[in-house]
Amino acid sequence: MKSILTIYNVRKTFGGLVALDNISISINERFITMLIGPNGSGKTTLINVVTGFYKPDRGRVIFDGRDITGWPPHNVYRAGMVRTFQIPEPFQRLTVLENLMTAYRGNPGESLLRAPFKRLWQRSEEDAAEKAFEILRHLRLDHLWDARAYTLSGGQMKLLEIGRALMSGARLILMDEPIAGINPVLAHEIFEHLRNLRDKLGVTFLLVEHRLEIALKYTDYVYALAAGRVVAEGKPEIVMADPRVIESYLGEVS
Ligand SMILES: Nc1ncnc2c1ncn2[C@@H]1O[C@H](COP(=O)(O)OP(=O)(O)OP(=O)(O)O)[C@@H](O)[C@H]1O
Ligand SMILES: [Mg+2]
Repeated sequence: MKSILTIYNVRKTFGGLVALDNISISINERFITMLIGPNGSGKTTLINVVTGFYKPDRGRVIFDGRDITGWPPHNVYRAGMVRTFQIPEPFQRLTVLENLMTAYRGNPGESLLRAPFKRLWQRSEEDAAEKAFEILRHLRLDHLWDARAYTLSGGQMKLLEIGRALMSGARLILMDEPIAGINPVLAHEIFEHLRNLRDKLGVTFLLVEHRLEIALKYTDYVYALAAGRVVAEGKPEIVMADPRVIESYLGEVS
């Protein structure tokens, strides 16, 4: 098995607060890996550090064999590690297809739209459209290609976000609570899509999720955090039976 993302001894503090306390993690290619842990255990901070939104105080982040520690988010994104965010307002008025096209990596800048390059630009548009339809078919959104984004349901919007990430050439997709606020039937459907993308396109996922009763069914590997440290790792059934994991969750309830 090949690691696509490796985190070595990462530490991140906010003033006196130690949010990540020497975390080391290895994410296997073509795995759905889940970060779990009680509120405040450092899950989102870890995602922020690996995607370049926060700089670690120390430690290293290796993506696809390259040391990307301290890279700004847009460079990390270009390297193929993509975080899905809520689609910003202007995209709401674009169609599903247009939303994918604007995320295409080969998308030309304004200068290429000028006359001498028009043929080149048209060619790139055709490539993008072809790729977009392929992705939409995988996500079973192809029948909605002409629908404007704001008309989509919450679940379909989530799939559109994933589609945009794929369009940008993502090999590792990170999602923080992908099924928050989504009904159980749709939540299962979204995870089935992720599993399908893993199997068909070889995409790797690193997810943070609290709704374990749904998420763990689709998970290959789990890292359990508590107070900024990894307290357990392994297959879901093994991690969930670990006394340190149970204790960290019980501590949250009491
Ligand atoms: N920008 C920040 N400034 C100061 N403290 C922060 C910042 N971001 C996170 N923290 C603190 O770091 C700790 C870890 O927070 P983090 O958001 O990573 O937890 P989490 O595991 O994602 O929690 P949740 O499950 O509630 O989303 C918390 O104590 C939090 O208050
Ligand atoms: Mg969080």
